[in-house]
Amino acid sequence: MKKIAVIPGDGIGKEVIDGAVSVLSKASVVLYKENVFKFNYFDWGSEYYIRNGQMMPGDALDQLSEFDSILLGAIGHPSVPDHITLNGLLLPIRRKFDQYVSVRPSYLWKGTNSVLKNNNDLDFVIIRENSEGEYANLGGFVHLDNDYATSIQTALFTKQGCLRIIKYAFEYAKQRGNKSKVTSITKSNAQAYGMVMWDNCFKEVSKDYPDIETESLLVDAACMDMVRRPETFDVIVASNLFGDILSDLGAGITGGMGVAPSSNINPDLAVPSMFEPVHGSAPDITGQGIANPLASILSAAMMSDYLDYKEINNLIRKSVQQSILDKILTKDLGGTNSTEEVIKGVEYNLEN
Ligand code: NAD
Ligand code: IPM
Ligand code: MN
Repeated sequence: MKKIAVIPGDGIGKEVIDGAVSVLSKASVVLYKENVFKFNYFDWGSEYYIRNGQMMPGDALDQLSEFDSILLGAIGHPSVPDHITLNGLLLPIRRKFDQYVSVRPSYLWKGTNSVLKNNNDLDFVIIRENSEGEYANLGGFVHLDNDYATSIQTALFTKQGCLRIIKYAFEYAKQRGNKSKVTSITKSNAQAYGMVMWDNCFKEVSKDYPDIETESLLVDAACMDMVRRPETFDVIVASNLFGDILSDLGAGITGGMGVAPSSNINPDLAVPSMFEPVHGSAPDITGQGIANPLASILSAAMMSDYLDYKEINNLIRKSVQQSILDKILTKDLGGTNSTEEVIKGVEYNLEN
């Protein structure tokens, strides 16, 4: 039995998360005749903030530490500034539990189309550094009330931080056994300290993996390459900010945000990891019942895999593939089905 903290959050997060919970539960019952997950819901997020002046209670991180994993919908509300909402909930969780790896697969499901012509076989994974870099939260303001208003935002690159994420990417490539290639993406021509350290760590770690092909790209050229030769990527490792940006680009060329799952992992199983779709709260479609729940369902599947229920992951992925082939699709994938109908479609395929 695994204890899961569920934080639906804001906007479409609340619309897609129940699908993830019910698909996980049904998959477990189909395979094991019982639900191996116990879910506890937390109503934290922007509406909680509007009521209480904070995104989550003071002891929230202590409460979460009791769980095996966290399942998050999305955070972000049109009436509360993003730096308050995200720094009040999502980012503190990643920091507190040192969830230093974010695995972000870009996979083109059979039956969906890439916006890129002649690309029907895309399958690569972005390993995003998730604990430091440009998100280290170091900086401040001075002289805000006069003409010398100044802000400082510092990126932090530690050797340990670079080595551990790069090693994770190589191990991931080895286990994936796909093209056995790791591409490191930086901007060390302009960012001459942190990203030079990163590049050096990449060279150092790569020596331990002689069977894995390596490639080191600058982020501007890498964006172009992701569009003109996306099929050549296997595992990509990048800093926090670059991994964030590249994962939206990766989603954009493999069916969109509606099918992009992600994890925030601390490989130490003693602390909870967190699973969430790559997408945000999508205020432009909130309340319409048309949000694609697949990104959230696939994030839950990643969680089951992480918690060693590999059969549950496999079953959910097979069912998602089948319901896409059955053309049970929301608008973002060219269909006319509702969030609810897609959830029901996946659930039907779990049992059939
Ligand atoms: P977004 O990912 O919410 O939306 C981008 C576009 O993709 C929108 O047009 C949206 O309708 C579409 N989209 C996203 N998810 C979809 C889905 N499941 N089905 C169909 N279409 C989908 O990004 P944004 O608009 O830049 O951000 C909105 C809010 O979410 C902001 O407050 C932002 O800070 C926040 N945000 C939160 C997270 C998170 O909680 N992990 C991630 C990204 C953005
Ligand atoms: C993501 C999101 C977050 C990030 C934001 C909402 C802080 O964009 O998970 O991709 O940048 O990490
Ligand atoms: Mn993002």
